[in-house]
Order: sequence, then C-alpha cells, then structure tokens
Amino acid sequence: MTSSSISWTNSRAISAAFTYLDSAESTNTWLIDKTAVETGEVVLTLSQLGGRGRFNRRWVSKPGEAVALSIVVPPMQKEKEPNQASTWIPLLVGVSVVQTVQSMGIQEASMKWPNDVLVGGRKLAGILCEVRQDGHVVAGVGINVRFSDNPPHSRAISLDEVLKATPLALDNLVAGIIRRLFELFEGDSTPQRDAVTSVLGTIGRDVQVLGRDGFTRTGHAVGLDEHGALLVRMSDGRTSVVTSSDIEHLYQ
Ligand code: BTN
Repeated sequence: MTSSSISWTNSRAISAAFTYLDSAESTNTWLIDKTAVETGEVVLTLSQLGGRGRFNRRWVSKPGEAVALSIVVPPMQKEKEPNQASTWIPLLVGVSVVQTVQSMGIQEASMKWPNDVLVGGRKLAGILCEVRQDGHVVAGVGINVRFSDNPPHSRAISLDEVLKATPLALDNLVAGIIRRLFELFEGDSTPQRDAVTSVLGTIGRDVQVLGRDGFTRTGHAVGLDEHGALLVRMSDGRTSVVTSSDIEHLYQ
C-alpha cells in the first residue's frame, strides 16, 4: 500500500492540524523541531526513515509497513499532575491505542507497562513521549502494519496478521486513537487510572526488570503508584518503585 492511496479523511476531521508526510526522518523529531505547535496537532507518515524508540534505540520499519504517528497531547491539569514527563502520559496514549484496536475486533490487545501495545504477547505498537522546549508533550506511536519479510524482532506482530489493514481500516485506527486520546487527556484522574488498569496486562504478573545498571531482577507486579510508576514486589519481600526501566512479562 502506498501512502498516497490513503486520504486520511476521518483522521483529518478529528485533528486540529493534520500533516501527512510522504516520508520523514522521525515524526516525533519533526514536531519537536517545529518552531511552534498547537495542542492536538498531528503528523503522520507511512515511511519513517529514522524512527526513534525508548533509550535511544531505533524503531525500524520499511516504507509502507508501519504507521508513524505523533500528536501534541493536551496538557494534563496542573493540580492533577504537575509533572508532564509523568509515566501516566505514555500509559494514557497506550490506552487510546489498545481500546481503539479492541474496538476493531482485536479483543486480546493489551498494554505492557509502560509503552508497548501487545497482541497475544507480541508487540504491535510502541510509544515514545518527549517534551518540547516550550513544555508541549509529543506522543509518538509506531504501529506495525505488515511485514514483507522478517519482522524487526522475533516478538513483533503486524496489524495485517489480525485484521485486514485496508486504507479505510488504517484511517479509522488513526482517527480512533486521536479521538480517544483527546477524551482521556481531558478527563479526570480517576477514570484515567481506571482506563489504564483495565488494559494493563502487567499487573498481577511475574516480571523481569532490566535496570539501567545492567542488572536484571525478577518480581511480581502489584500495582501503580500515583505517578504511574510500576510497583514490583521483589523476591526479598521489598517493593520496588520502577520508573523508567524496561520490563519483560514472564510467562508461566
Ligand atoms: C519503543 O518501542 O521504544 C517506542 C517506539 C516509538 C516509535 C514511534 S513511531 C512515531 C514516533 N516517531 C519516532 O521517531 N518514534 C515514535
């Protein structure tokens, strides 16, 4: 599918300012480098050449094989959440992706804390949130659409494996994500938290925490704190507050 075969009519109708790019180095970088942005601004490409992931990793996709979407998210109310870099932000973006994918019939979609969307334990989408110098937060979402040959990693899954990724389906997916993201960010903290816990597959699981120190530890994910950090009960009985590590679900 070429990018130009999609009109993105439904997505354009929802966004305050929608830019479609034939190709981009990184849609997040495009919005971060822009002189001025407005809340709700969206940039999208199906051909991202230098996609970025968490911890300076690369997000690799061939032209036409993934949606790269970046959105300037509405600010969360100061009294609810003073820290714009809070873990709630990627979690709420993840909710909008999971619930939209579920509404398209993929009930088994869920979230792995703090930024992965999984289907059947495999990664369908990744999220990278970054803060601009003016304080606006850019939420980037990369969604695998199809793989013409080997997937970028062994635990990746594409949309085409679970539904027919037609141009209309992709437009509806993007429009649904944007619509749900705005609803969630404009809502109150209790429904936000409830929405996160309803899609988060991490809580109640044994997890492996890959620390920045290079050490891995295992524990049991028991909940989230008020900032969206993951609470993990470790084997020695202590509870660790995990803020920015990678985690892996351990499957029994
Ligand atoms: C991750 O899994 O580590 C996050 C991947 C995020 C990729 C998206 S694609 C749109 C936006 N632009 C980027 O350069 N990265 C994000």
